[in-house]
Amino acid sequence: EFEYSLRPQTLRQYIGQDKVKHNLEVFIEAAKLREETLDHVLLYGPPGLGKTTLANIIANEMGVEMRATSGPAIERPGDLAAVLTALQPGDVLFIDEIHRLPRTVEEVLYPAMEDFCLDIVIGKGPTARSVRLDLPPFTLVGATTRAGSLSAPLRDRFGVLSRLEYYTMEQLTQIVTRTADVLGVEIAPQAAVETARRSRGTPRIANRLLRRVRDFAQVRGNGRIDLEIAKTALELLQVDQLGLDHIDHKLLLGIIEKFRGGPAGLETVAATIGEEAQTIEDVYEPYLLQIGFLQRTPRGRIVTPLAYEHFGLEVPKA
Ligand code: ADE
Repeated sequence: EFEYSLRPQTLRQYIGQDKVKHNLEVFIEAAKLREETLDHVLLYGPPGLGKTTLANIIANEMGVEMRATSGPAIERPGDLAAVLTALQPGDVLFIDEIHRLPRTVEEVLYPAMEDFCLDIVIGKGPTARSVRLDLPPFTLVGATTRAGSLSAPLRDRFGVLSRLEYYTMEQLTQIVTRTADVLGVEIAPQAAVETARRSRGTPRIANRLLRRVRDFAQVRGNGRIDLEIAKTALELLQVDQLGLDHIDHKLLLGIIEKFRGGPAGLETVAATIGEEAQTIEDVYEPYLLQIGFLQRTPRGRIVTPLAYEHFGLEVPKA
């Protein structure tokens, strides 16, 4: 499928996350040497950094199929049992947003992860009995934006824990260049750098911006993405020099205008700007913390002088 081929298929093609990649390389090779399934892997970190892509690559490198589902999609133990019993030996089961699995489902998952078996209760009341069902061995790849929200017993059952980091400009430039190549669009090196610069360290955003820039190049230009058309397009897309979008702006300017830069509590900020506290915490804050525009303190969020400078505003005196 077209969209799918944009994603790298092998660890060799995968750009960035060097530590995670090199570790996985070893664990995959070792598992193959021993002819075992790979140990369960937990991938965590901000959205858009390649967790699903890595899960696909793990399955591909192990030479098995990947089944994908998500925490919220598995509502009852029976849903999980259906997924697990459909696996072929060695398959990768990818559970996105694994921190959102209901507790009752988690409890069924423990013995499945540990001993590849399912304990199911048949019947109700005094005649209820438990039967144990063997499962094919499998590798669970769990993904979450919030490792801290995972229960300790679940976290402890993963043999490999890998944290994904924001990508460097160089890595994002390489990714943009590679994706342009896959899309069959010509891009000037400086235009690739410019697109990378505005992607907040995130390949998903880089590739999205690239598609939109390509649209401009095809409709307004001659199809080739040069620096000028990239800049024009990125301006029109309302991502600023650092890749911050209007929600980042609303968040930072909200704290600046309503709370004199803070500290302001997360819930208060969320209510002020009309966004979900959890979305702010999982999607927007991590990058703003990373670039030093926001600080988390026990008393709330504080906008830093660096952010004031970015908006051309003066820092209020104490
Ligand atoms: N496309 C999206 N993420 C990528 C990555 N990490 N490496 C190569 N291509 C990608």
